[in-house]
Amino acid sequence: MLILGIDTSCDDTSASVISVDEGITVLSDIVSSQAEIHKKYGGIVPELASRRHIEMIGPVVHEALEIAGTGLEDIDLISVCHGPGLIGSLLVGCSFAKGLAFVKGIPLSGVNHLEGHIFSAMPFEAVEFPFLALIVSGGHTSLIRVDAPLKYREIGRTRDDAAGEAYDKVAKLLGLGYPGGPVIDKLALDGRPDAISFPRPYLPEDMDFSFSGLKTAVLNFVRSIPPERLNDLLPDLCASFQASVMDVLEKKVEWALKKEGLNRVVISGGVAANSELRRRFRTLSERPGITVHIPPRRYCTDNATMIAVAGYYHYRAGKLSDLYLNPKAYIPIEEENYESY
Ligand code: KG4
Ligand code: ZN
Repeated sequence: MLILGIDTSCDDTSASVISVDEGITVLSDIVSSQAEIHKKYGGIVPELASRRHIEMIGPVVHEALEIAGTGLEDIDLISVCHGPGLIGSLLVGCSFAKGLAFVKGIPLSGVNHLEGHIFSAMPFEAVEFPFLALIVSGGHTSLIRVDAPLKYREIGRTRDDAAGEAYDKVAKLLGLGYPGGPVIDKLALDGRPDAISFPRPYLPEDMDFSFSGLKTAVLNFVRSIPPERLNDLLPDLCASFQASVMDVLEKKVEWALKKEGLNRVVISGGVAANSELRRRFRTLSERPGITVHIPPRRYCTDNATMIAVAGYYHYRAGKLSDLYLNPKAYIPIEEENYESY
């Protein structure tokens, strides 16, 4: 079975072709990044993102098919992300996918962006159900219990900033540009994680997250030092900020696994590309009885392969979309729950 995946939920135009038989094989995975366009604004400008998607969607899908060595006539399913995300961006991918599905008579599946992240490790490792998914990206920080494909329950989420958003905002206030995650990750390698004591927002009473106070603590620290010292302090600042984020993520995963009686966790989203996160969770996976799945770095950030994989599970359950499929800026993950599983 050949599946064409499409994701235009945020600022990357992506298309992918996977083949599914006994296992899942990635035949192509194309991502056209808009980082250069949004860099000078220190964040994503939604209108510019939609316009760029319109320019890139055709060439990106074409390239994905070409690299996979196939054509639309061989595609058995088109899987497209219909939300959550930026509505103008989503509209481009959804309309394009519906157009192809209609003209070529190909079945269509609209999937939730978070489902994509949940399934992002599947092409690379055998992941057994049930498991806990930690999604840490620029738009989301969520803990989701996954009992089966299309059986989800969100058990925790951020009350304010997402983890990646905290990285981006801290990088912006330190003058490090956008996106902030990769540059903070790199600077932190030369810094001391215990150099500056930033708060750990554990919220121990539940599984929610909150990162906006941490961002304010970094801002207050920057204001308290002479500006000419900032450059020298950057590695320590980045390492200390990162240690605070990672302490919280690690603790919450441990608590959630215990609370839900689970022993497997899948971690995905842009922040899962972080070196310190990968190091810490590798250590956690050495604990007897705990399995940690993290996709290769480039499949942690947004990609259409994960959307194609999620579409496969929809198809297998008999849950297909019609041409009334519309993008939505917000879709609770529980809306995807489906009786067949
Ligand atoms: O999953 P993603 O590509 O898009 C969303 O769905 O949001 O995640 C993008 C986010 C950005 O906030 C970016 O700063 C962060 O992931 N990110 C990282 C790293 N690489 C990307 N954060 C920390 N360390 C990284 N190495
Ligand atoms: Zn994402």
